[in-house]
Amino acid sequence: MDIYLWVKSAHVVFVVALMAGLLIYPRYKIHQLASRPGEPLFETMRDASARLKRIILNPSLILVWGLGLWMLYLNPSLLQQGWMHAKLALVVGITAMHAYFTVLGKKVDAVTGTVEAKTLRMLNEVPFILMIGIVILVIVKPF
Ligand code: HEM
Repeated sequence: MDIYLWVKSAHVVFVVALMAGLLIYPRYKIHQLASRPGEPLFETMRDASARLKRIILNPSLILVWGLGLWMLYLNPSLLQQGWMHAKLALVVGITAMHAYFTVLGKKVDAVTGTVEAKTLRMLNEVPFILMIGIVILVIVKPF
């Protein structure tokens, strides 16, 4: 049994979960911003985004990194490849977006009034654009 392919399969499964979480979480916060504390929408979106973070976003980020690093351990020659360097740079970008969404989410929960729905809508596209670059790099391996 080639463990590498099982690890790669699990890696891609959690990549899908991570991307789903990164695309949904800002949407929940945009809806929460359209309501006030005490209103049902505010409470529902606050609780749903907290669950999303705890059950999907955080575990899948850890598993994507863990399984990705495991593959690099099993196949260290990949670290010589230009496409893997570029991929890891974009992956750091996705990880930074995860952290930034978490920070903005806490501000929305605390009703600091410093987060605009317009900003979240714009930032919502960034992980998707990074993911397009990552998938092309890891499948086409252009350099
Ligand atoms: C978090 C750190 C990550 C590391 C260390 C990592 C590392 C790796 C490695 C070593 C492979 C196997 C490459 C091969 O055998 O050709 C791989 C495959 C893959 N990675 Fe990642 N990865 C990471 C994150 C991501 C992310 C965030 C995405 C997408 C958003 C992603 C998408 C993929 C895909 C689609 C494959 C399968 C490619 C194929 O079938 O050949 N990875 N990754």
